[in-house]
Amino acid sequence: MFEIAPSLLSSDFTKLAEEIAAVGAGGAKILHVDVMDGQFVPNITIGLPIVKSIRRITDLTIDCHLMIVEPNRYAAEFVRAGANMVSVHVEADPHLQRTLTAIREAGGQAGIAINPATALSSLEEGLPFADFVLLMSVNPGFGGQKYIHTATDKLRRLRRMIDERGLPTKIEIDGGIDASNIAKVIETGADIIVSGTGVFGDGDGEKGVKALIEAATVWT
Ligand code: DX5
Ligand code: ZN
Repeated sequence: MFEIAPSLLSSDFTKLAEEIAAVGAGGAKILHVDVMDGQFVPNITIGLPIVKSIRRITDLTIDCHLMIVEPNRYAAEFVRAGANMVSVHVEADPHLQRTLTAIREAGGQAGIAINPATALSSLEEGLPFADFVLLMSVNPGFGGQKYIHTATDKLRRLRRMIDERGLPTKIEIDGGIDASNIAKVIETGADIIVSGTGVFGDGDGEKGVKALIEAATVWT
């Protein structure tokens, strides 16, 4: 089974509550929230107060993708603000095991996010402490970028790496996923599919989620 995680980055922020209700009606169970600090990535988005507000209006799983430097300073704080899943970038944290453990101790699911040009070997020692890996299929920072085609082979190798170790770690893939490639990434081993433009691009989040689910299931 797979889950669609609409990325709110591509939604209309002037009507966030309606956008969230729409993707829920379409069948999404997870909301992907992109937190950017203008340091780790060249863009600034949203932070803790918005996560707290979203928590008040939805029962959907809130998945915070932290694209920030020094994520250890804030990761557990996002769980306390209402996030159910929090991922931190392996490139941003020299004490990753400590941060992942802090997320879990706060009651969240801990994820390791990894950029397109970062080797999978950098995940090895952190994997037992993570509930999921967020595999980037674009360089983080912006919605609407093109899927980097080498991500498919990387996804295949990550799936093998997790399965060979007998770990329950889930794989989430993020960046450039739409109806044209969703079936392929699911077939290759992704469990959670993030999509921003693919869900909200036509201005109707409910339809967007339904179309992705259909495109995924036609071929699987
Ligand atoms: C990129 C973000 C993604 C982005 C995905 O830095 O991590 O979650 O919003 O958007 P699309 O699906 O448009 O590539
Ligand atoms: Zn993201």
